[in-house]
Amino acid sequence: MTVLKLLEERIKKDGQLLGEEVLKVDSFLNQQIDPELMKEMGKEFYRLFKDNNITKILTVESSGIAPALMAGYEFGVPVVFARKHKSLTLKDHLYSATVYSFTKQTSNEIAISQKFLSEDDNVLLIDDFLANGQAVKGMLEILEQANASLGGVGIVIEKAFQKGRKMLDDQGIHVESLARIAAFENGEVKFVEED
Ligand code: G4P
Ligand code: NA
Ligand code: NA
Repeated sequence: MTVLKLLEERIKKDGQLLGEEVLKVDSFLNQQIDPELMKEMGKEFYRLFKDNNITKILTVESSGIAPALMAGYEFGVPVVFARKHKSLTLKDHLYSATVYSFTKQTSNEIAISQKFLSEDDNVLLIDDFLANGQAVKGMLEILEQANASLGGVGIVIEKAFQKGRKMLDDQGIHVESLARIAAFENGEVKFVEED
């Protein structure tokens, strides 16, 4: 079975709708993690971006780390995650961006140490969800500060009815999402039909 089918079936089986636009997937992605599924995702991200000369993978803690790690394993490149919390050891020489969450109506500073990104890097950004695209936007700002190049954006679950995908498409960015949700209808997940 393709990872797309695996993931769609898993979302149908284990995903729960919270309100109008949030999909709870804590049994395989956001809290409990399914390693076998993550491994397949890593392989798929590799298949999708293998010709892009990726030197590094960047994500944001916490839920992006698992898929990013498996992708990094397939590419044979390091995985860096931006931190959201002030850290004892991450203080100086930072690249950072402010990420506003429309969902939570809060702002978070995300930061990485400057030593982990440089102008020689061509970076694949990975995240668990693409909703309004603010996390990806923050990571793009970090790439800019480092003068690093963008090698693509890989998303596990895209909510195509929110603004993020369009924002990235409008910038000509190469985005690949493993599952694309078109809508939540009568408590059911509708996926974007592939042609
Ligand atoms: P955006 O980055 O696309 O703008 O996302 P948004 O602000 O809307 O989302 C804030 C947080 O909620 C992010 O996680 C994001 O991954 C997550 N999220 C967005 N939509 C959904 C959804 O439908 N279901 C689930 N489960 N999560 C969603 P975060 O706060 O960075 O948390 P985490 O990475 O530590 O889990
Ligand atoms: Na996330
Ligand atoms: Na999340």
